[in-house]
Amino acid sequence: MEPAVEIVDLVKRFGNTIAVDKLNLSIYDGEIFGLLGPNGSGKSTTLLIISTVYKPTSGDVYVYGKSVVKNSDEVRKYVGIAFQEPKALWVDKPYEILLWHAMVVGYSMSDARKVVRQVMEDLGVWEYRNKMFSELSGGNKKKVELAKVFIQKPRLAIFDEPTAQLDVITKHQVWNMIEDLRRNGSTIIVATNEMSEAERLSDRIGIMYRGKLRALGTPEELKDGIPGGDIIEIIVDGPVRESFVEAIKNDIDAVRIDLKDAVIRIYVNKGEEKIARVVDMFSRGGLKVRQISLKEPTLDDVFFYYTGAKLAGDNN
Ligand SMILES: Nc1ncnc2c1ncn2[C@@H]1O[C@H](COP(=O)(O)OP(=O)(O)OP(=O)(O)O)[C@@H](O)[C@H]1O
Ligand SMILES: [Mg+2]
Repeated sequence: MEPAVEIVDLVKRFGNTIAVDKLNLSIYDGEIFGLLGPNGSGKSTTLLIISTVYKPTSGDVYVYGKSVVKNSDEVRKYVGIAFQEPKALWVDKPYEILLWHAMVVGYSMSDARKVVRQVMEDLGVWEYRNKMFSELSGGNKKKVELAKVFIQKPRLAIFDEPTAQLDVITKHQVWNMIEDLRRNGSTIIVATNEMSEAERLSDRIGIMYRGKLRALGTPEELKDGIPGGDIIEIIVDGPVRESFVEAIKNDIDAVRIDLKDAVIRIYVNKGEEKIARVVDMFSRGGLKVRQISLKEPTLDDVFFYYTGAKLAGDNN
């Protein structure tokens, strides 16, 4: 099947800065794709190229087969984007901004009124419809920005840090609305610095670092992909011999084992499949296990691993 978005050898430079560095990435039709990466890693720049705001320095992006370089008018028909920094248009009241936007994306006047009201109510900004945009709080500006995409219901919906300034109740509401959009047939890209948001929403996640893609997969695949990301921690009665630790390490193919007094930490892949074997080996070795626990890596650990920082609990 043709991907919704195909990014091919994409490069974007701003003067001497390389914001996007030979990026290759395909986004499937109908998926929610989470784009992660440290500040300045090129997420927004990539999204702005997909939505034809910026032109690539080289390379290309195909949106449903149309090139952002050669067929940008066609691409614009498919794409809606909520920017990281909300911007007001030439009109300055939220209701007018959104009504104008609804007409531009093809609603009749009467349908535009209906959909604008519905989306503004869903996001809790209907009461601010006639305030000046510039006087809205940061979060409410962001909601007006998000409303554009929920009104448009584009085939490819792009959200750049959708919930960064929102209160927790609205966050959940926005996540539900993004999932509804996907259920109705849109493909979604969400750039975020919030791991919980990426985990909650994404079918697949891509981690960018300095303009390149560092990692790609489902949240589970990414977590399982960290070498020794699972930690089995065991507290035993009595001393443990080095040779016994070595035997466990070989038997379950552990990446590393730390032994400190009565606490043994085993760094291993797929810990949930190996924990029973570990307990078994201890009891055969005549060692009484007082306590055992399994810590699975979080998406934070995945992020640290791929963007240069250390794994939590890794002291080496
Ligand atoms: N219009 C611009 N002019 C000059 N440099 C830019 C411009 N836009 C982005 N950059 C630079 O390109 C790099 C990538 O920025 P970008 O905004 O894409 O990162 P980001 O991953 O979205 O970061 P954040 O998490 O902070 O939103 C940064 O070094 C940034 O300073
Ligand atoms: Mg950004």
